[in-house]
Parts: sequence; structure tokens; C-alpha cells
Amino acid sequence: MTSFLFDTYKQHHDEGIAAHKAGDYPKARLHYLMAAKYLCALAKEAGAEFKQERLKKAQRLMEIARELEGRQVQRHKGAKGGDAWDSVRHVPKVPTEDDEEEAQGERWIVSDPPKTSFEDVAGLEDVKRAINLRVIYPLRHPEATSRFRKRAGGGVLLYGPPGTGKTMIARAVACELDAAFFSVKCSDIMSKWVGTAERNIKELFASARGRPRSVIFMDETEAIVSRRGGGSTVMDRVIPEFLAQVDGLEKRENMLLLLGATNRPWDMDEAALRPGRFDELIYVPLPDKPARLKILELNLQGVPRAADVILDELAERVDGYSGADIQGFTAVVTDYPYQRQIETGQEQMVTRQDVAQALGRAKPSVNDKMLARYEQYRRDRGLS
Ligand SMILES: Nc1ncnc2c1ncn2[C@@H]1O[C@H](COP(=O)(O)OP(=O)(O)OP(=O)(O)O)[C@@H](O)[C@H]1O
Ligand SMILES: [Mg+2]
Repeated sequence: MTSFLFDTYKQHHDEGIAAHKAGDYPKARLHYLMAAKYLCALAKEAGAEFKQERLKKAQRLMEIARELEGRQVQRHKGAKGGDAWDSVRHVPKVPTEDDEEEAQGERWIVSDPPKTSFEDVAGLEDVKRAINLRVIYPLRHPEATSRFRKRAGGGVLLYGPPGTGKTMIARAVACELDAAFFSVKCSDIMSKWVGTAERNIKELFASARGRPRSVIFMDETEAIVSRRGGGSTVMDRVIPEFLAQVDGLEKRENMLLLLGATNRPWDMDEAALRPGRFDELIYVPLPDKPARLKILELNLQGVPRAADVILDELAERVDGYSGADIQGFTAVVTDYPYQRQIETGQEQMVTRQDVAQALGRAKPSVNDKMLARYEQYRRDRGLS
């Protein structure tokens, strides 16, 4: 029974996505509704741990179906004239596997960015300082900026191992600044808008330029500015457009900042790193010990722990873990007492043994070889 339900759900889900991508919104809507219906049935059969997840997903599908209500069949064309990028925003998003997370704000445009501040970002003091000098101050203190003949605007690229807080910093910048914040995931531009990627880039920059102060955040920048000559025709058309748009960022009347993030800087086109483009590269490293301690504290705040579970000691043990790895570790370590408490009906806490077990399961995702590659990259480019 379950497998019939699941297969039917999956079929509607996939057909819905296919229709959605093809611009056949009415058909997509029907399939999403059917998929949601089967998911609800699946939720009824599921154990406690999957029930919520399935219901949530069904709800999300219904929301998307609602957004599609009344829409006519349409091919994605981008819009003519006006603030076309805004119309892109209004094309409802195709659901994906990790949709809940994505829906949290990793969408095309952020008009009210999620609340994250520099305070929430543990450590990375050098990175914050560089961002302040290059990104925040020029927008906040234009007078001082011109008095000291500081450059304002331009492109800053955050690079470093995965899970070290690059996206988080960009979000924090959005919160700290009084500027329009455009957030684009480059892989989205490339995958969802094949054929219209150049136009989207153009429209994005046009929109940003239309406002007095804007920040464009491009996550996974390497997806759009990968080295040319890889045989990809989409890339060959998109990169020149991107470069044309980025060129001379600083000379514009209004303030336009381009903030990029990548964990594969070596895949980027050299041309994108020339002066006037992404000309400042900031390395976002793995957390040092105080930062690891802070991330542990942030994630285990209020969680009952045995007296011999000492965070300072633990911060030492997770040397080599990224911020995301540490977060993953805290999720694993709390699973044990959580499960025990539910099974025994008695209050539990995180014990030393839980910690040892979790450390065995939640391993660091960044290895020495990867770190050496960043090191080499920095050396080759003469970066500090
Ligand atoms: N310095 C940090 N302080 C607090 N939390 C952090 C830090 N670094 C990472 N994290 C945690 O890890 C999660 C993932 O971080 P984030 O998405 O910013 O990484 P990233 O550098 O953009 O990774 P990727 O290169 O894979 O995109 C954050 O949501 C946060 O919970
Ligand atoms: Mg990221």
C-alpha cells in the first residue's frame, strides 16, 4: 500500500514539476494538488518522525498550487520593458527536494532579508573587518569615504571551504545595510533559465542600477563564471554578458556592490577577477577555537548536558570541522538523549558517551587536501 501511495505521489510530483518548468501552470497545479493529497495519505501511514515532514511538504505543494491558480499556459520569456526582474520573481518557484530550506530566502530577490547579523557569525573577525571597510562603510558613511578617497562599490568575492559561513555573511550584510538586496543563486540562473540566462543577468543588473543603492549577492559564483572553453555554449554566452554587466561597477553614479561567494574559486574565469569586477577576494577560513566554541554554544544553548560535557574541551575536539559540520554534530549528539527520553519517559541529558558516539558519526567535511588547495590558490595569487 505504502509503495503504491508513494509511487503515485512521486509520479504526480514529477509530472507537476515537468509541467511547471514547461510553463503549463494549470497542469502543474493539478499534479501538485494530487501529489499533496497522496502525501497526506502517506503521512497517515508514517511513523512520528516522517509524519510532520510529509505534512509540511504537502502543505508546501498546496501553497505552490495556490500560487499557480488562475495562471495561463506560458513559456518563460522574461518580460518586456519595465522592471522585468520583478516579473521573474513572480514566477512561482518549482518545488525541489530541499524546498523548505530554499524557501527560507534563498530565492531570487530578497526584499526583506532574513534576520542575521554579524553578531550571529562566530569568529571571522578579519572577514568582518574587510567587509566593513569595503562594503558597509561606503554605504553608511559616504562623506568619510570620499574624504579618504576610498573606493565605493565594486565586487567582492568571498571564497573558502564549504560550510564556513559565506552565505551567512552575505545575509548579515543585507541586514546591516540600508540598500536593496538582490540575491541570486548562480546555479539557479544556469539551470532553470537555460536560454534566458543572459537576459536574466541583464535584467538583474538593470533593476539594481535603477535604485540608488543596491547589493547583488551571487551565491555559487563559479557556476556562472566558470572558466571559458569548457565546451559549454550556455557558458560561452552567459559569461560575456556577466562581464559586460559587471564592468565598471565603480564608475556608476549610484552605488552598486557585487558580493559573490564560492568554494571553487579556481573554477572562476580569470576575466571575472580583474580590477573593476570581483577585484577583492576575501578568504573565509575554517573556524578557530573561539569561533568553534561560540558555534557550539549557539547550537547547544539551553540543552541539558551532564557536568562532564565541557564545551571548551569539545571545541578542541572539533578542530577541522566547519561551522556547518559543528552544527551537524550538535544535531547528532542531541539525538541520543532525545530518543532515550522518548523511549524511557524519563528526563535525559547529553552525556560524554553521546559526545563520543556523535564524534564518530559526524565527521569533518573538509580535509587537508582541500585546505591545501585553498592555500595554493592564495599563494599563486599573492593573497594574504
Ligand atoms: N562562523 C559561523 N558562525 C556561526 N554559524 C556558522 C558559521 N559558519 C557556518 N555556520 C553554520 O553553518 C551553516 C552553513 O553556513 P553557510 O551556508 O553560510 O556556509 P557557506 O560558507 O556558504 O557554505 P557553501 O560554500 O557550502 O555554500 C550556517 O547556516 C550556520 O548555521
Ligand atoms: Mg553558501
